[in-house]
Amino acid sequence: MAVRQAAGPVTRRGTRMVRVRAIAAVRRSVGRWRARGERIAFVPTMGAIHAGHLSLVRRARATAERVVASLFVNPLQFGPGEDFRSYPRPRRRDRERLAAAGVDLLWEPAVTDLYPPGHCTRVRVVGLSDVLEGASRPGHFEGVATVVTALLHVVSPDVLWLGQKDAQQARLIERMVVDLRLAVRVRRAPTVREADGLALSSRNAYLSADERRQAVALSRGLKAASRLLHAGERSAVRLRAAIRRTWRAYPKVREDYVAVVDASTLAPLARVRGRALVAVAARVGPARLIDNFEWGPR
Ligand code: PAJ
Repeated sequence: MAVRQAAGPVTRRGTRMVRVRAIAAVRRSVGRWRARGERIAFVPTMGAIHAGHLSLVRRARATAERVVASLFVNPLQFGPGEDFRSYPRPRRRDRERLAAAGVDLLWEPAVTDLYPPGHCTRVRVVGLSDVLEGASRPGHFEGVATVVTALLHVVSPDVLWLGQKDAQQARLIERMVVDLRLAVRVRRAPTVREADGLALSSRNAYLSADERRQAVALSRGLKAASRLLHAGERSAVRLRAAIRRTWRAYPKVREDYVAVVDASTLAPLARVRGRALVAVAARVGPARLIDNFEWGPR
């Protein structure tokens, strides 16, 4: 297999970010570092890099000597009517941002590298894949679990960094790593937000100015639920009602779900007792947005 290796932009530490496509090239670099006793942290992404992704890279930097990031818009996790083709791909800017944040190795596989003709293996995390996002996006988490398994096998990192923004994805991957006995520590980074509270997302780019103003409903609704929890409210029905009440002031926001679930099993809760995940999804214009927070003891 041809190894395409290009010197990328200069990183903060003065070294150059190496950009590779071939699986063998990733394995070579990682193998060299590991032989020197260096720890490797991994940040998988689909690109359209924003400050949320960069916060993962910075945390990864703090937990390991080497940071590997991947940039791959994974066709397997997009449904037929979804935005695979139109998903933003500002590659040059992505590379500059990742290099500046301190990525050592950026892996940009082509679709045929990960899914060669005849590829037919799928990884399914039963149950956790079928609720919330999984109920609205059939097959989505099978695509996520399948690609993350392959990425982890190639990179073989010590630490995998994921964002709380995609809480269900993080939970599912944590479970998968345990179930498949993968030797990697999974860590979550908090959600990075705009000044008004909107969670950063590549899909925010789809919003018009008016939709962007209304998109703040998601985080405002969650704030209302969080305030109630702080005040002692434990009824899931009342927490969900508070979110929906907040959303009434935002007519462009169309609910997909408003959920209060167990943070570990993702099973619906009637009352909040242990650690809970309060998660919402809504359509705002052409974009489907999600947000969440967790509450209670870890
Ligand atoms: P992507 O949406 O590019 O996100 C890459 C990582 O960035 C994920 O772990 C996600 O949770 C995190 N992230 C996104 N927005 C964030 C924010 N506002 N604050 C903090 N972290 C944020 O998630 C995926 O790609 C894909 O499903 C992937 C795991 C790469 C598999 O294809």
